[in-house]
Amino acid sequence: MPVIAVIGAQWGDEGKGKVVDLLAEKTKIVVRFSGGDNAGHTVVNPYGEFGLHLIPSGIFSSGVTCIIGNGMVINPAVLIDEIDQLNQRGVDTSRLVISDRAHLVMPYHLLLDGLEEKSRGGKALGTTKKGIGPAFADKAARLGIRTSDLLDKEVLLERLRSILDYKNTILTKVYRVSPLSFNEVYNQYCQYGERLAPYIRETTIMLEEALARGELVLLEGAQGTLLDPDFGTYPYTTSSSPLAGGGCLGSGVSPTRINHILGVFKAYCTRVGSGPMPTELKDDTGDLIRERAHEYGTTTGRPRRCGWFDAVAARFSTRINGFTGAAITRLDILDTFPHLKICVGYKLDGKTIDYFPSSVATLEKCQPIYEELPGWQTPITDIRQFEQLPVEARQYVSKLEEIISSPVNLICVGPRREQTIDKMPIL
Ligand code: IMP
Repeated sequence: MPVIAVIGAQWGDEGKGKVVDLLAEKTKIVVRFSGGDNAGHTVVNPYGEFGLHLIPSGIFSSGVTCIIGNGMVINPAVLIDEIDQLNQRGVDTSRLVISDRAHLVMPYHLLLDGLEEKSRGGKALGTTKKGIGPAFADKAARLGIRTSDLLDKEVLLERLRSILDYKNTILTKVYRVSPLSFNEVYNQYCQYGERLAPYIRETTIMLEEALARGELVLLEGAQGTLLDPDFGTYPYTTSSSPLAGGGCLGSGVSPTRINHILGVFKAYCTRVGSGPMPTELKDDTGDLIRERAHEYGTTTGRPRRCGWFDAVAARFSTRINGFTGAAITRLDILDTFPHLKICVGYKLDGKTIDYFPSSVATLEKCQPIYEELPGWQTPITDIRQFEQLPVEARQYVSKLEEIISSPVNLICVGPRREQTIDKMPIL
């Protein structure tokens, strides 16, 4: 049985949660492999509507083991709250597993995320202020505390003492704010450890065993390709890799095991936070998309920047992920527009380019070149067969298929599970 990676192909918020929730019904294990509670995966199913931040979107399917992978950073308070909320709403979380290699978001990470953003002034990155960047920076600097450290209070004590001394020096000397109390942080994280211990374990063995049994494993990405720290609009990126390659590193599944890489594309573009976005519409059309689609961050509530589909960015995303198929989400949001635009190239210093520049300074100068397509101007939310879509909608999807150079497997025409067109089966 295959491994399928579900990857955000734009700037995040493409609707990966719904796609994973749908595919999870056929899956045995779902692993979230990157990011932390900066993500907000919206799932609407018979249990209700949920905004998951840390727990994989497969949690609603019985018999599916959901792994919080080693590539994630976990704020334990948020995770415990998420578990409690799911339980209160009748969702069983006994199949949740936390990798013992995942890192923890600590109180100083939250503080530093806010302080660093403030110190950037007008050049703030627009982070979610969930401590994600500082937590991944500590992972790279070998200053991280991992979930396995929660399982041994002596180990936690040793590790926290030296790290907190250093962090308190930065808090007091660089940012001139009060230090954190060792006892408070230590006692709090001991309590988190007691609560989360039953979930924490080594996860590569269980993945290997599942694959040996021929079970389907799904790698659930967070954020989107254009927020990747290497290939995204650096420095306006997140701090862990949302790419298919990141799926291997963040889960412990070998690249040779991945058979399908499903790129999730919204039928238009959105971005939240700062950084260039060539097709952003700062006009009534952009506002209309935002209001029709309720494009406000699941995690922060911030209004998302909206714009037309960017084929230049999409081709780049396809190249660095190697998509074998695509899911097009939120096609119904375009129902009312008489004309639709797709950005097919950029105008840069009087020349036309068709590649996604690596420098943000260059990208900021790029002006979109649009191709216009007719809209369908009729509701499609009740359509379940591709052939029944209006011809203009089929043309729009075919155009995207051509850009992405891989087949469109799924089309979402509304938030609910059943509001999906299975254009071409993935399995
Ligand atoms: P951070 O990941 O909180 O450090 O934020 C860095 C950038 O990534 C900011 O522009 C955020 O708005 C963006 N970002 C982080 N997580 C998400 C997400 O789940 N969806 C969309 N944008 C995100």
